[in-house]
Amino acid sequence: MIGCTIRRFETCTSTNDEATKWAGQHRDRAPHGGVIVADTQTGGRGRLGRVWHSPAGENLYFSVVLRPQLPLHRVPPITLCAGLAVCEAVNAMGVAASIKWPNDVLVGDCKLAGVLTEMSTQSQHSPQTGPSDTAVIVGIGVNVNSRRFPPELCATSVANETGADCDRFTLLGEILTRMDSWVEQYCAHGVGALQQAFESHNQLRGHKVVAKVKGVLVSGRVVALAEDGSLLMKDDHGTEHRIVAGEVTRLENVV
Ligand code: BTN
Repeated sequence: MIGCTIRRFETCTSTNDEATKWAGQHRDRAPHGGVIVADTQTGGRGRLGRVWHSPAGENLYFSVVLRPQLPLHRVPPITLCAGLAVCEAVNAMGVAASIKWPNDVLVGDCKLAGVLTEMSTQSQHSPQTGPSDTAVIVGIGVNVNSRRFPPELCATSVANETGADCDRFTLLGEILTRMDSWVEQYCAHGVGALQQAFESHNQLRGHKVVAKVKGVLVSGRVVALAEDGSLLMKDDHGTEHRIVAGEVTRLENVV
């Protein structure tokens, strides 16, 4: 069960680092669903080498250790499970957030939360450990009570959207409960179990976008979430492309 054990830190470099260490420990190693949460991070990181600003006392920075019985190629959609959980939890608080595939939670075009999924490497390998010891680390940052952001970032917070401070740990509980359910459904039934919920929160649905496909920039419209968790896009000539990684940019004001 996600959230079965929660370890709290005042500060750390990154909760993903702490979760990776915990997952690789020989004794007292992280169980499936173990959570690391920190009040601040000195080296918070996002996808594509970006920095995740982590001021103390304001927001949520946490990482979930998962040990799903899945082959490696089925790991990426776990990021969508986390995004859905965050999106639903803040929607229930009156925040009109949506998911930008694969890992952003946005309000309009401003970032509310992000997910960074990494595989843990087994630093303390022993003859007893095997592939089932491989862990997936799902790091989640949510802007909860920050009111101001660096001007170069288009970011927002739950408090900015609702006009009131939000209890971070109540929100954490809501996210973990929902994530537990989505991960369970995904592991049992595949991406099909996520498609409907994803579509109803899909920020890119029907929009004109630009994405890199095999190193080439392609523009077109987002069609759907494919059965492997990639994003299907139809280019201006009607050819379908599968976007498996990287960034998709929405072309402003074109629907
Ligand atoms: C992104 O949007 O690029 C992903 C951001 C992920 C940030 C979270 S904060 C908790 C965890 N620890 C990190 O260093 N990163 C993730």
